[in-house]
Amino acid sequence: MSNSPEADNSVLEIWGQHPLAGHVSISGAKNSALVVMAGILLCSQPCRLRNIPNLVDVHRMAAVLTALGVKIKQEDDCWELDPSDISHTRAPYEIVSKLRASFFVIGPLLARMGVARIPLPGGCAIGARPVELHVRGLQAMGANVQIEHGTVHACIPGIRKRLQGANIYLDYPSVGATETLMMAATLAEGDTVIDNAAQEPEVADLANFCRAMGARIRGVGTKTLTISGVPSLHSTDYAIVPDRIEAGTFLIAGAITRSKISVSPIVPEQLGAVIAKLQEAGSQIVVESPNRISLIPGDEIQATDIQTLPYPGFPTDMQAQFMALMTLSNGSSMVTETVFENRLRHVAEFSRMGANVRVNGNCAIIQGVPMLSGAPVMATDLRASAALVLAGLGAQGKTVMSGLQHLDRGYEQLERKLTKLGARITRIDGTTGQVAETSEEITASRRSR
Ligand code: EPU
Repeated sequence: MSNSPEADNSVLEIWGQHPLAGHVSISGAKNSALVVMAGILLCSQPCRLRNIPNLVDVHRMAAVLTALGVKIKQEDDCWELDPSDISHTRAPYEIVSKLRASFFVIGPLLARMGVARIPLPGGCAIGARPVELHVRGLQAMGANVQIEHGTVHACIPGIRKRLQGANIYLDYPSVGATETLMMAATLAEGDTVIDNAAQEPEVADLANFCRAMGARIRGVGTKTLTISGVPSLHSTDYAIVPDRIEAGTFLIAGAITRSKISVSPIVPEQLGAVIAKLQEAGSQIVVESPNRISLIPGDEIQATDIQTLPYPGFPTDMQAQFMALMTLSNGSSMVTETVFENRLRHVAEFSRMGANVRVNGNCAIIQGVPMLSGAPVMATDLRASAALVLAGLGAQGKTVMSGLQHLDRGYEQLERKLTKLGARITRIDGTTGQVAETSEEITASRRSR
């Protein structure tokens, strides 16, 4: 049995073309949970967070917070975090290098402590992922920021140790930069206006969490955020929104296996672009209640183009999964990735399964084929891993996917949820050939020892 969530030599075996049916319970949103956990640093009183998904990335963020002095107690999806005594202002490189989102602690740590030293996270499988928008925004708010030996050193000059409100225009509506700067501005002196802000639901969730702690933020969910700084924030009890990307991934599982499935809890409006494209691709979406929708598959998968864009455009985090669906469409389609410069690496793996896809720059041109055939494939990043599982569900025969450390970063109990729907999917330990535990299960059993 594999015992390390980091060096995972397990594989997923997926036997395709089994019809699915039933309902999927959607977990809390990974990208909300990660940044809300970072936002805890703004507060000097204990807070409770609910609906936190049990994911490797979430445990990495917890490790960063623990290293800074936050005391954490976890019971299932309910976490008590006590940030009263922050003892360190330097985040450990070993963790930041594995979890890019942990760089986002720079904003709240600087605002609360007057100093923050965070290693540059570096690039990752999907792109270089620079952080200059975060840095420039903090400088506009009066911080001294220097990059030395791979670490960003930020401090607030002067004796009052408060950032100053500023007018910030983001060259690009970066999710992370909007979140870093919004958090920093909650404790600044005066008003901060962030223009061309990201409008992703996870940014709005963070804003709502900050508001629950007493922050004054207007324009939530729009391109212009106005934050009136307050001297301190107070304790709160907050539930993370459901994961729209997990929900979208399961809807595609339904479409690709021509199966009726339903998902809840969700916020249907947050899935607007994904729903529109699934409808264009021939599926029917039925809103069963304000937080539950179902997908009824069409007879054929219609070829449909997508272009990834900042919210409310089609999410880059659903691009690979939608491409999996298009590989089995009845015509030719084009997928254009505009958010990340290197997020088409799954194409080579789809090709191993018999897909007909050509890449030209940031576009993939897909000629649908009548059938994919199961093959050994390698997950190249988190969403690619989900897309390969989907392709495996739609393919004839057995797909064996390696690189599961990517999958475990961001999908809570994916195999269990798919098995419940009727999928044939098993995790096998690469060394022993036996059925393996997921890294979530390993983490959970370590905690209970
Ligand atoms: N960018 C810059 N400079 C910056 C910041 C960003 O050039 O200072 C560029 C990036 O290189 C990228 C684009 O802007 O090309 C978008 O990046 P953004 O900052 O919006 O993304 P992020 O905050 O790093 C979050 C999610 C990603 C998701 C993107 C886009 C978290 C922890 N991550 O990343 O999630 O794809 O927003 O929606 O919130 C995933 O979950 O699989 C994932 C990658």
